[in-house]
Amino acid sequence: MKVTFVGHATVLLEGSRNVLIDPFFKGNPVAAMKMEDLPEIDYIIVTHGHGDHIGDTIELAKKFGSIVISNFEIGLYLQKKGLDKVHTMHIGGRYDFGDIKVKLTPAVHGSAIVEDGEVIYGGNPAGVIVEMDHRKVYHAGDTGLTKDMELLSNEYIDLALVPIGGNYTMDIDDAFIATKMISPKMVVPIHYNTWPLIQADPQEFCSKVSEIDIKCRVLKPGESVEI
Ligand code: NI
Ligand code: MN
Repeated sequence: MKVTFVGHATVLLEGSRNVLIDPFFKGNPVAAMKMEDLPEIDYIIVTHGHGDHIGDTIELAKKFGSIVISNFEIGLYLQKKGLDKVHTMHIGGRYDFGDIKVKLTPAVHGSAIVEDGEVIYGGNPAGVIVEMDHRKVYHAGDTGLTKDMELLSNEYIDLALVPIGGNYTMDIDDAFIATKMISPKMVVPIHYNTWPLIQADPQEFCSKVSEIDIKCRVLKPGESVEI
């Protein structure tokens, strides 16, 4: 499986299927890919309702006819916006789509959808585990450090994508503790340096992780790693 860090929290998984997590292109100051350059997307996963995560889901799902996976509340919103291939799940639930398996995991954060200045209830925020081609990727979504992450060591995660930018999510120190609890084979930091509020040095994170027996890769927006 090829994993591309598009920028911010947007991640593209390419294997026997193409999966896009939190597709934020328009207005994303660090997006290293254009929507036009994406391959056909089979699945779009939305971790929570914030604009930098729902992003361009509606436009892309309409273009590709993708199945969109989200919590129930975001799913209702997306159906109202005209998407007909929405698969809703909830935290703790796993589903076998036949070609990929998806589980939503807890995240400590918010999930409001904001539209024309109005707040629409977006349910609870989530992280997600995607299993494809015998590899497991965990995208933490936006979250603070939570002891629930200890349970993820039972999942034998190949690659964990964890936020390190602070302010809205874990910072480097908390993401390091999270990485120890998750104990993935590899970790890649996300959700940093998009805006001034979430400045963080990904190399500093990786040098902390190098103290433990877990690989850490800094991916510049647009860079990929094969797992
Ligand atoms: Ni958020
Ligand atoms: Mn965010």
